Amino acid sequence: MSEAAGPLRVPRGLAGVSVADTKISKSASDGSLVYRGYPIADLAANASFEETAYLVVNGRLPTRGELRAFTNGLDGRSHVDRRVFGIMRDLGKQAHPIDVIRTAVSALGSLDREKTVAGEEASIQAKMSVLAANSRRVPGGQRPRLPKEGLGFADDLLQMLTKREASGFERWVFERVLIFYMEHDMNASSFTVRVVASTLADPYAAASAGLASLKGPLHGGANEAAMEMLLEVKDPARVVEFMDKTFREGRKLMGFGHRVYKAFDPRARLCKEYLKQMVERRREGAWLYELCDAVEREMWERKKIPPNLDYYAAPIFYLLGIEVPLYTPIFAASRVFGWMAHYNEQVEENKLIRPDSEYVGATGLGYTRIGERRS
Ligand SMILES: CC(C)(COP(=O)(O)OP(=O)(O)OC[C@H]1O[C@@H](n2cnc3c(N)ncnc32)[C@H](O)[C@@H]1OP(=O)(O)O)[C@@H](O)C(=O)NCCC(=O)NCCS
Repeated sequence: MSEAAGPLRVPRGLAGVSVADTKISKSASDGSLVYRGYPIADLAANASFEETAYLVVNGRLPTRGELRAFTNGLDGRSHVDRRVFGIMRDLGKQAHPIDVIRTAVSALGSLDREKTVAGEEASIQAKMSVLAANSRRVPGGQRPRLPKEGLGFADDLLQMLTKREASGFERWVFERVLIFYMEHDMNASSFTVRVVASTLADPYAAASAGLASLKGPLHGGANEAAMEMLLEVKDPARVVEFMDKTFREGRKLMGFGHRVYKAFDPRARLCKEYLKQMVERRREGAWLYELCDAVEREMWERKKIPPNLDYYAAPIFYLLGIEVPLYTPIFAASRVFGWMAHYNEQVEENKLIRPDSEYVGATGLGYTRIGERRS
């Protein structure tokens, strides 16, 4: 592009603009999603969280020995310094859990003593689930719940999040949801991580920025917003009235819509099936499945907008007995593996991400002394 032609204009929100070559994952409008070449349904049916995390981070499925070393590496780095818990406690019970985790990750950036970038990344990955599980407990003045060695990532996170006993199937479902949350090509938080990585700032800085981006209800915050919406509607008979009101007020329905998936989100489809099986096996919670289905049908009828992962992850977490404000922290505990894969890919072939903009403000103004200015 020549200087004279001016900067290249791109659509608002960079919609449809490819900003990088990536080998990590790809979602497409036909409802497909692959991690490192493997379809998501194949991974969901067969892989563990740790295997998938290894795949996303290292580019291929691990051998037994590699998987053991990876899992041990996570276990070995999950200890959180009590000074970090102290900082979390000082934030107090009003603090938003994502703000708590973000502050804790920033603190780790100063307190961790890792000697390599790979060690720093592994430390953040290992500790994020501990920070997530304690992001309400510790600021609320309770003692931290700690990981138990040898449990596995998903079971460990679940036991830190809730004291309710989950069945083997429910634990399997929780692990699937974590696998779905792990990675999603150029989503807002991963792009944020890549922007920070492109300045060659460290992984702690990049992960803190990723958390900031994840917090918003248009991204990670949607799973909590979706659950609050479902709890507000409560009854399938109220869906029409609720939707009329929501759209009359110009609001969006959280947990619906996606930048890439316009027909269906493959992760939401799988989660809907898991939810159905969960309520059938439990013989309770059928109201929640029916409500979700009713809202989905009405939304499709009116706007042809499908539910996304957050919409069906939320009721699964709810039935598992997890408090709603912990839903986005769970997302973070998993997505951090994707973030670190993006961090590495960006740094490997780095080019500072520094776009241009069109100046549409005032021109030609002259400085006026403070006493001569009008408000
Ligand atoms: C995810 C999201 C930000 C994608 O947005 P996008 O690609 O920028 O698309 P837009 O927000 O421009 O939406 C396109 C149209 O669909 C409508 N729309 C999209 N999502 C909607 C929703 N959840 N509820 C109601 N209308 C929605 C928009 O109002 C817009 O309508 P218009 O063309 O009449 O103005 C958007 O769907 C959304 O805000 N969803 C709710 C939050 C959510 O669930 N986020 C998690 C994403 S995984």
